[in-house]
Amino acid sequence: MAIKKAHVITVTSVKGGTGKSTTVLNLAGVLSLRKQKTLILDLDLYSGAIAPSLNIDITTDLYRLINDMYMNRFDNIENYVCSYNEYIDIIPAPKDPRLANKIKNKYLSLVIKKASTRYDFILIDTTHSLSDINLLALDNSDLILYLVTNNLVDLKSMRSMVSIYKDMNKNNYRIIMNNSIDKNRSCFTNYDINNILGDNIDYTISSNFYQRNIDQYVIDGKILSLIYPQKYMVFEDIISDFLKEDK
Ligand SMILES: Nc1ncnc2c1ncn2[C@@H]1O[C@H](COP(=O)(O)OP(=O)(O)OP(=O)(O)O)[C@@H](O)[C@H]1O
Ligand SMILES: [Mg+2]
Repeated sequence: MAIKKAHVITVTSVKGGTGKSTTVLNLAGVLSLRKQKTLILDLDLYSGAIAPSLNIDITTDLYRLINDMYMNRFDNIENYVCSYNEYIDIIPAPKDPRLANKIKNKYLSLVIKKASTRYDFILIDTTHSLSDINLLALDNSDLILYLVTNNLVDLKSMRSMVSIYKDMNKNNYRIIMNNSIDKNRSCFTNYDINNILGDNIDYTISSNFYQRNIDQYVIDGKILSLIYPQKYMVFEDIISDFLKEDK
């Protein structure tokens, strides 16, 4: 029997607050509806948003997992995850943020390798910095999703990132324009944006997805794409395009 290998998708950005964590959660919702066993790995080490957004009590975290690997005490990845539902598990960022800088980054590849045989998908939430652990996540990914907003500084920084990918001849990244955070802001047209970026926008999260009462969903630990699958089709499109291209 062939050994299962999870698809690894990392969600990142060049600026903070562009909707990475919300996107990770919505992708997990779509995968859960597809009955795909999904692990969310929270690499926002100092202020992990995944467990709080899902109302999950943190009983274990990435620090404990990597420290056990380092101390040769690691046994089974299942002992290091918190479950949201039948399909979604998470490895939260350290419950105590003071432990974040004690994490031995180089073990991240091993974490992904161990989880790979147990899950269909691994979704990685990052911060916007090019830290060692984020770079490792990018190196280990099949697909990298960049969340950008309609903001000149964000778009110009993304342009530099696009150049780096082009220089490296890497094309496993997609750019998502998120209009749902600041729904009234739309300074640049798609034509302008493509010119600024030197690349195309692959997906758009429409301003119609703006949720005035998003905090209520956080309080209830609900995932929008699980409650309104029809409304959040863009996340389904991202997954189905990826699976088509991956064949
Ligand atoms: N569809 C939406 N409607 C309303 N508010 C939203 C929506 N999506 C995201 N937000 C809000 O925008 C803010 C940023 O979103 P999110 O935390 O997902 O971004 P991020 O890129 O992960 O941020 P950070 O860089 O701080 O980790 C959050 O307060 C979130 O609640
Ligand atoms: Mg975040």
